[in-house]
Amino acid sequence: MCGIVGILGSKPVAEDLVEALRRLEYRGYDSAGVATVENGHLERRRAEGKLRNLETALRAEPLTGTTGIGHTRWATHGKPTVRNAHPHMSAKVSVVHNGIIENYRELKAELTAKGHKFESDTDTEAVVHLVTDGLDNGLAPADAVKAALRHLTGAFALGIIFAGHDDLMIAARQGSPLALGHGDGEMYLGSDAIALAPFTDRITYLEEGDWAVLTRGGAEIFDRAGHRVARQIIKSSANSLLVDKGNHRHFMAKEIHEQPQVISQTLAAYIDMAKSAIDYPDLGIDLGDITRVTISACGTAYYAGLVGKYWIERVARVPVEIDIASELRYREAPLPKGGLAVFVSQSGETADTLATLRYCKAEGQRIASIVNVRTSTIARESDAALPTLAGPEIGVASTKAFTCQLSALACLAIAIGRAKGTISAEKESELVTALAEVPRIIAGMLTDESPYEELAQHLSKARDVLYLGRGINYPIALEGALKLKEISYLHAEGYAAGELKHGPIALIDENVPVIVVAPEDELFEKTISNLQEVAARGGQIILISDAEPELAGCKLAAYIRVPHAHAFTNPLVYAVPIQLIAYHTAVFMGTDVDQPRNLAKSVTVE
Ligand code: F6R
Repeated sequence: MCGIVGILGSKPVAEDLVEALRRLEYRGYDSAGVATVENGHLERRRAEGKLRNLETALRAEPLTGTTGIGHTRWATHGKPTVRNAHPHMSAKVSVVHNGIIENYRELKAELTAKGHKFESDTDTEAVVHLVTDGLDNGLAPADAVKAALRHLTGAFALGIIFAGHDDLMIAARQGSPLALGHGDGEMYLGSDAIALAPFTDRITYLEEGDWAVLTRGGAEIFDRAGHRVARQIIKSSANSLLVDKGNHRHFMAKEIHEQPQVISQTLAAYIDMAKSAIDYPDLGIDLGDITRVTISACGTAYYAGLVGKYWIERVARVPVEIDIASELRYREAPLPKGGLAVFVSQSGETADTLATLRYCKAEGQRIASIVNVRTSTIARESDAALPTLAGPEIGVASTKAFTCQLSALACLAIAIGRAKGTISAEKESELVTALAEVPRIIAGMLTDESPYEELAQHLSKARDVLYLGRGINYPIALEGALKLKEISYLHAEGYAAGELKHGPIALIDENVPVIVVAPEDELFEKTISNLQEVAARGGQIILISDAEPELAGCKLAAYIRVPHAHAFTNPLVYAVPIQLIAYHTAVFMGTDVDQPRNLAKSVTVE
């Protein structure tokens, strides 16, 4: 993953590089570095850990160059140490890279045999030596990069600067996103437009295989074949202000509390409130003709998709195939011609999801994506991009993006149902009205978090935590376990409640908290039977429900009361308590809630 940035500026750029990197920290934060051209030669500063460590290094030894590149890292090849931190460099060239150079071992062997000395364990360093080799052989910088690109396989976004060239920076993109920013007498590159927002809103997105030669006067862009190409400059709406935490201690808390508002906004994009009816954008496909839907996504977005499967199958009576994005394309799933493939992604840059989208496109599917970042690659490569209006999600653990994805999927299910005639106008109105109620219900749930603070102390002592759910609430159990793992580092697993007796029940003893997501719906009694099985084995039951606690029929370790909602909207409502459980447990345990270890917000490597 990683975030990259580059500036050809009119004043020293180190501080601005760090400012841009701060906006890219969501892409990785295990080390960072910048390099500049200092009186003709290359210099760099690097530091392990968060950006503040790089700032300390820069204060101790400032850089004054007006041409520079920067990087924030999520380690793929080599530990997150200073030695492996970017920029990597030789005396002639310095490189920042996002992605993976898949053939770096072969390149390293060839270049080492030619006498190049590698200093790090990274794949990126192969690019440094490959370009240096071209320069050593007398090639001009742009020709050396062009030649090097022909040898690289894998995914990359690259920013490259050169010793002795104060007005030159080269950008290249294959498989990883890269934007160019146009200033007045200044040029920029960055992994996204948000990084460049403090400096310019005039953005060019490079396309697959593009590479560009930047000077302060502008950019010359070439395609994979080396032909000069024109790419549009668009006005980016990325906000130049870094979103702040408001009155909250963490971005995650703020984002949990924003849910009533952002769910409302998202629903408003798909619902005609005045008519209590769905008003879905045109997907360029007759929804009434759909015979199968394929959904694909990763992590939390996958769990949103899984809820979507229950909704679409139940409401629209259309079979839905759902798969984790990293699996779907490799099993070469046969897809019906003209089918609808739906991709769910907050960032719109997730490499596995994007690769699967391209696979489905090649298989003749109509592509719809539910995305939070409208300018993202996934949005741009889709036939129809269906926005979630969650706003920027900074906390690495997804919360508001998840419930907005659910909102868009619920509306999609109703839209297909209506087009296929599987639901009546009355039913449509009932479901739409139920959805419109959700923001109010969630707002009510966010007024008192004291039960979660108490529960957090209890859970913090556990080694393993199980989550159970049934039917459409089974994905909520999966999401609950993922949230807890991610930010508290407690081991947690989600299971379909009915599956417990087929194996996981062996884990239950008096030390294992079992969190049961059990709305009083048509499956409530069945879930309660599974809960009894846990109670009989001494497990500590934490019930999340709108049913009275006595209905559990056993002693509860804790009970989280949830307001009664329409069964259709329960996944949205029950998402909130599982988020709050994870959040308060992590806060109690003192972990880094917004930037948990080993993770990054946007996963742009396979
Ligand atoms: C978990 C989380 C991840 C993402 C996953 C997909 O809290 O945020 O599991 O959901 O990496 O990311 P997007 O939605 O950006 O494709």
